[in-house]
Amino acid sequence: MTTAMCPGSFDPPTNGHIDIIERCAAVYDRVVVAVVSNPSKNSMFSLAERIELLGASLDGLDNIDLVSFDGLLVDFAAEQQVDVVVKGLRAGSDFDYELQMSQMNSHLRGIETVFMPTSPDWSFVSSSLVREVARLGGSVGDLVPPPVAAALEEKLA
Ligand code: PNS
Repeated sequence: MTTAMCPGSFDPPTNGHIDIIERCAAVYDRVVVAVVSNPSKNSMFSLAERIELLGASLDGLDNIDLVSFDGLLVDFAAEQQVDVVVKGLRAGSDFDYELQMSQMNSHLRGIETVFMPTSPDWSFVSSSLVREVARLGGSVGDLVPPPVAAALEEKLA
């Protein structure tokens, strides 16, 4: 049995996140979706809200564990008996930072990282841009799952 971890801030979850998690769930036996409890940036959604939105957006997948963590990702991955960390790559601009993190994680605890290309449909989508566009009154309904679109509308009303 191979367990993958999809970690992130998910503030909020986007269609890009959901696409990567769903594809992971098709490839690996178990997927731990790990929501960092204290993202480095000021978050728009609380940890409880981010977990609830992910749960509502991933309905129907039965090999997914939705959990939160703080501290080092590699320590949590070891605790969860994770074999591989999976990260989505949107473009070359993601690669440098993700490569550095994967090498640090490997250095710290020997954990492997696999990069999965983001679907071209979502390669321009990020949580930060979704927050900005939504805050400024733009439409993001086709970039995020329906529960997230509703939550953004409610939060910004
Ligand atoms: O969705 P994000 O904000 O790009 O996710 C980044 C995340 C949560 C994967 C990264 O910040 C992380 O791994 N945080 C946990 C703390 C840690 O282990 N830091 C050292 C990374 S080499």
